Amino acid sequence: MPELSLEELKTTAAAYEERLVPALFQQWTEPMADAAHIRAGQRVLDVACGTGVLARAVADRVGPGGSVTGLDVNPGMLAVAAHAAPGIEWRQGVAEELPFEDRTFDAVVSQFGLMFFPDREAALREMVRVLKPGGRLAVAVFDGLDRIPAYALMVDVLERVVGQEAANALRSPFVLGDTEALSSLFAAAGIPSAAIATTEGTERFPSVRDMVLGDVKGWFPLAGIRLDEDMIAALVAQAEAALMQFVTAGGAVEFPVRVHIVTAQRA
Ligand SMILES: C[S@@+](CC[C@H](N)C(=O)[O-])C[C@H]1O[C@@H](n2cnc3c(N)ncnc32)[C@H](O)[C@@H]1O
Repeated sequence: MPELSLEELKTTAAAYEERLVPALFQQWTEPMADAAHIRAGQRVLDVACGTGVLARAVADRVGPGGSVTGLDVNPGMLAVAAHAAPGIEWRQGVAEELPFEDRTFDAVVSQFGLMFFPDREAALREMVRVLKPGGRLAVAVFDGLDRIPAYALMVDVLERVVGQEAANALRSPFVLGDTEALSSLFAAAGIPSAAIATTEGTERFPSVRDMVLGDVKGWFPLAGIRLDEDMIAALVAQAEAALMQFVTAGGAVEFPVRVHIVTAQRA
C-alpha cells in the first residue's frame, strides 16, 4: 500500500463502499455464506474484510448467539466498516499472521482479497490454522481477464489513455483465474482437498462514468494512482466507446463476471 494518510484511506474506503460494493461485491455474500455453511451461533472470521460487506451478511446469519470478526490491513476500510456495523469486531492485521489462537473459528471466509496478499500460501495456512477441526473455509477470487471481456476492454482503455501502471492496477484483481494454478496454490498451502466452484454473476453500474469513477476513487488511490479531471473525462469518453455493447437502453452498464469460490474443510 502506498503512503496515504488515514483521511485519504477513509475517503477511498468510503468511495469503495459507495461505488464498488453494490456494483460488484455485495452479490457474492450469500453464495459465500452458503459455501461456508454459515449457521446460527457460529464464530466466523472474514479475512480481508474491506468495508465489511461479507462480515455483515454473515453476522445476520449467525445471529445474536454467534460472533463475527472482520480483519483487514487497511485502517480506512475498517473505519468505514465500524461505522456501518459497530456490533461486529473489527481488527487491523495481515492475513499472513492472523492475530488469533489456533482452532478459534467455526468458519473462515475471504472474498476478493487473496490476489492482493504478498504471501498467499502463508495466508491460506493461517486461515486453516485458526479453524476448528471440521471448520469450513470459503475463499472467492475473480476468474481471469480473458473470461471477463468488459474488464479486458477497460484494461485496454486504461493502457491507451493513462498508461501501464493504471492498466496493471486493474489487471491485479484477475490474476488468480487459472483453476489449475489455484488448486496448486491451495495444495501447496496444505489444503489438497480444496474444491473450486465457478459461478457467473452480473456487475451493474448506473453508467460508464460511474464504473470509471468506482476504480478512480475507490481503488486506484490504494495503488498509488491519482488522475486529474481532464484525464478522468478522457477515460470516461474512451470507456463509453469501448463498452457500448454492455450499455443498456437506460444508460446503465451490465456485464457478466465469473468468480471461483474455493471451499475446504479442516480435518
Ligand atoms: C477487493 S478488497 C475486498 C474487500 C472485501 N472482502 C469485499 O468483498 O468488499 C481487498 C481487500 O484486501 C485487503 N488486503 C490486501 N492485502 C491484505 C493482507 N495482506 N492482509 C489483510 N488484508 C489485506 C485490502 O485492504 C482490501 O480491503
